Amino acid sequence: MEKIRFDKLPQDVRSVLQQITLAADGKGVSVWLVGGMVRDLLLGRSSFDIDIVVEGDGVAFAGLLTKRLGGESLIHRRFGTVAIDLPNGLKVDVVTARRELYAHPGALPDVIFAQLSDDLFRRDFTINAVAASLNAVDLGVIRDDFDGVADLKKGLVRIMHYRSFVDDPTRIIRAVRYKKRFGFKLEARTLSALKTACHEDVFMTITPVRYFNEFKRILDEDDPSSALRRLRVLDGLRYFSFGQVEERLLDKIVRSQATVFSYQESWSDVRLLRLAGLLCFLDKPRVDQLMVLFNMPKSDKQKILEFLHFLRVPDMLGRLKTREFATSPKRRTA
Ligand code: CTP
Repeated sequence: MEKIRFDKLPQDVRSVLQQITLAADGKGVSVWLVGGMVRDLLLGRSSFDIDIVVEGDGVAFAGLLTKRLGGESLIHRRFGTVAIDLPNGLKVDVVTARRELYAHPGALPDVIFAQLSDDLFRRDFTINAVAASLNAVDLGVIRDDFDGVADLKKGLVRIMHYRSFVDDPTRIIRAVRYKKRFGFKLEARTLSALKTACHEDVFMTITPVRYFNEFKRILDEDDPSSALRRLRVLDGLRYFSFGQVEERLLDKIVRSQATVFSYQESWSDVRLLRLAGLLCFLDKPRVDQLMVLFNMPKSDKQKILEFLHFLRVPDMLGRLKTREFATSPKRRTA
């Protein structure tokens, strides 16, 4: 029986997992660690967000956990999920094991509470569908019903079923993100399903907010440029009207936080300034419209406008084009 070891995790994460074990055993329910943390542990990478599946009443279990650990919780009864923000800054997502039914492409799913294997099957990719037990009796024992461990070893991103991208088009963005982050390949049928879904224009079946919530995570990656280029080819950057933009310029702008923006000590929000880099090709009314469509908070809007002003006023774009900023500049001293 393959087991996962938690001893490489930071101490604060391990003590949260220990509390989950105590709560699960105390209540007599089966609880599993799933998703990114299991995947990252198997890849030998660090990870901080804790996703757990409860075979039973996840909302009640989350209540118990919040009593033990403190923090704020956000409950979605319809989905049987609770997001807990712990006082030490860690996050725990608790879900009740469930199956999902999609009434139409891009719809939010109807939910039926079920077993762990159903919950693993509803997930995006096999590499995110491996679970590790958090109960003391079989702590760390892996449940790998869909060969996610083999795919991790082979470096493959593989969907669970052919309609996956149609049911949830945000998975197209996720597939590109994982492919680039881990240097993986899209498995052959997955690639074919992804192309078919893009052909069917599935991005239009989800709201701009849902699109943006997944899209912005690409901007947090160490090197988002190649993922953005790939998404552009898949027509996944259409909100930004990127058709005519020269790709090398896009690359430079996304990298520009290391150059242009490093002059400005206070502009530390990498995600926002990369977003500004993408928006700087658009006219002001379109930028305003997108910020509304994406439901961006007011403080983010202000920062973006500040970045855009900076990009436009000293003709940063022109200077980027002439490669003035091709290499890292020295930091400006006061
Ligand atoms: N998930 C999914 N379909 C989505 C979003 C999420 O099936 N559209 C599932 C995956 O199993 C994923 C888990 O929910 O691993 C948690 O989602 P998220 O936090 O977005 O992913 P992580 O893998 O934890 O984080 P990251 O991608 O940043 O490493």
